[in-house]
Amino acid sequence: MKQTFRNLSFPNNLKSYVPTEVELEFPTNSSLPKDDQHFLISIPWKDKYASFIPKKYQWFFKLILPYLRARTTDVHIAFCCQYIDQLISTLSADEDTKVNAKVVTLAFLLHDIGWSQLTESEIAASLGVSGLALNKTALGPKEKHAIEGTRIASKILQEHKAKLDLSESEIDLILKAIRYHDQPEQVASQGNQIPIEVKALVDLDHQWSFAKEAFWQDVYRKGIMDPQTYLDNLEKDLNSYFVTEAGRNMARLHLADRAQEVADFNSQFLK
Ligand SMILES: [Fe+2]
Ligand SMILES: [Fe+2]
Repeated sequence: MKQTFRNLSFPNNLKSYVPTEVELEFPTNSSLPKDDQHFLISIPWKDKYASFIPKKYQWFFKLILPYLRARTTDVHIAFCCQYIDQLISTLSADEDTKVNAKVVTLAFLLHDIGWSQLTESEIAASLGVSGLALNKTALGPKEKHAIEGTRIASKILQEHKAKLDLSESEIDLILKAIRYHDQPEQVASQGNQIPIEVKALVDLDHQWSFAKEAFWQDVYRKGIMDPQTYLDNLEKDLNSYFVTEAGRNMARLHLADRAQEVADFNSQFLK
């Protein structure tokens, strides 16, 4: 079925279109200039997203939710949880190895809690990119969210390690995965291979950019404005963005759906 679109009006009076069912919100009392407020576009939370979180960890998600509002990380985390089982089973078959699903799930739930400690300007700087590859301005806040996230996660995991049934080595691995989720090669450069759980976290995290809500949010949040340009950038960056073939294949399927929406956009608005 052909994608339908609705109007989207920006705080600085720019206008564009977004798929009818994709809800996007602009900040209501931001201190950023109106021309920069697109960096803070968010996707409103809906209870349907909570159903993607494994039943066993619903209590834990509620516990960390106060750290997951900034930068739409609440929707991002919950939404990508639907891919955990599929990615882990493909990955363990491809690499013929066991994956610690508890480590992957907890690392994934916690990996972006550090955004809660950053200012609006730092979050804006983290999004001034044209595709998936990071530039110099984005690197600082990206690094900071990983460091802050590791610090908070360490405290939370120590407090709840009995209920989560975690060993110290599992906690270490979760913290390493959080710290290096944007630079997994750093884990490898410490003399070892990238642990499979870290690879799983990276490729689970990166599925988000290819989800419908996230794609359309990012076209406007990153200030690209032209869906075709952003689609082309995603396609160009896809291979290097993922660390496993399982992750790449999953993203390619979603990218094909985005390409169809962009074709519908172009046929309706670029005559
Ligand atoms: Fe992150
Ligand atoms: Fe993330």
